[in-house]
Amino acid sequence: MKETIFDLSRPGVSGAGLQDPEFGALDPSDWFDAEPLRTEPIGLPEVSEIELVRHYTALGRRAYGVDDGSYPLGSCTMKYNPKRHEPLASLSGFAHAHPRQPESTLPGLWELLFHLAEHLAEISGMDHVTLQPAAGAHGELTGLLMTRAWFESRGIERDVVLVQDSAHGTNPASASMAGYRCEMIRTTPEGLTDLDALEAALDDSVAAVMLTNPSTFGLFEKNIQEIAERVHDNGSLLIGDGANMNSLMGIVRPGDMGVDVLQLNTHKTFSTPHLSGGAGAGPCGVKAFLEPFLPIPVIRRDARGVDRRGIMPSDATPRSQGAGEAPPRAG
Ligand SMILES: Cc1ncc(COP(=O)(O)O)c(C=O)c1O
Repeated sequence: MKETIFDLSRPGVSGAGLQDPEFGALDPSDWFDAEPLRTEPIGLPEVSEIELVRHYTALGRRAYGVDDGSYPLGSCTMKYNPKRHEPLASLSGFAHAHPRQPESTLPGLWELLFHLAEHLAEISGMDHVTLQPAAGAHGELTGLLMTRAWFESRGIERDVVLVQDSAHGTNPASASMAGYRCEMIRTTPEGLTDLDALEAALDDSVAAVMLTNPSTFGLFEKNIQEIAERVHDNGSLLIGDGANMNSLMGIVRPGDMGVDVLQLNTHKTFSTPHLSGGAGAGPCGVKAFLEPFLPIPVIRRDARGVDRRGIMPSDATPRSQGAGEAPPRAG
């Protein structure tokens, strides 16, 4: 099929009647401020309902995915996710939540998200987790932006991120999107991080070292504690890529190994739905000193009662002990 849905468009054709006669025409300016309101038509294709259905049904037949056969997608550790998880993720309270929904209808969702974040923090050994990133790579970027904000808040200029030569391509991509220069650390013939190469590269330009453990070679980085010490002695942060977390879970925790920032790929480790091989979710965990830099809004327990949850903007004021300060060992 060569045609896109836009090629099929004919002005004035419509397959949908959205107006509810009971309410008459709604004027969006009664509901929204002028600033977010569109002034030009959005330019959606104009087709009949059956044209739309046929178009996407035909495209769906051309798609190849895990239901059709082998689906080799990089090093990621889990790609077939049980179908049962799709109806769970599609529950209306999740799938239809809307940013403009009245807050009084949201505490149930907040409760679940709050506890999910707590569980992920516990499993990974981190102090706080944001659920906002929408993919592993997005979680990496979020962690790097928090790292950058933390250094900036302390008036320290560092512009280099070190990545393993075995790293997933998203690591250097995220680092450069966050404004860092990337330098590679070679691996030894056994496939582990070369400690001498690391030592030689660590200087006061290095903001962070990104490390995947187990690496994309599938090897556990047995020198991880020594690596963490060297990185912290240099005043740098250790960013863990947690995409391969399912091989560690319940055995060791990245936070205990000295990792300061870690993204989790829940569509791998926890088999949440993975769409069509695309994004899923990439919660990002941090140690307490990075808490003020979590993206907002943050769900947190309100002191006024156990069942109340507050969504409050993050600000520069540390809220928990140790927040915003240097990690104890970093210079
Ligand atoms: C080691 C590693 N890091 C990061 C990613 C990126 O995750 P995502 O595909 O969710 O963006 C992947 C998988 O693609 C991976 O295997």
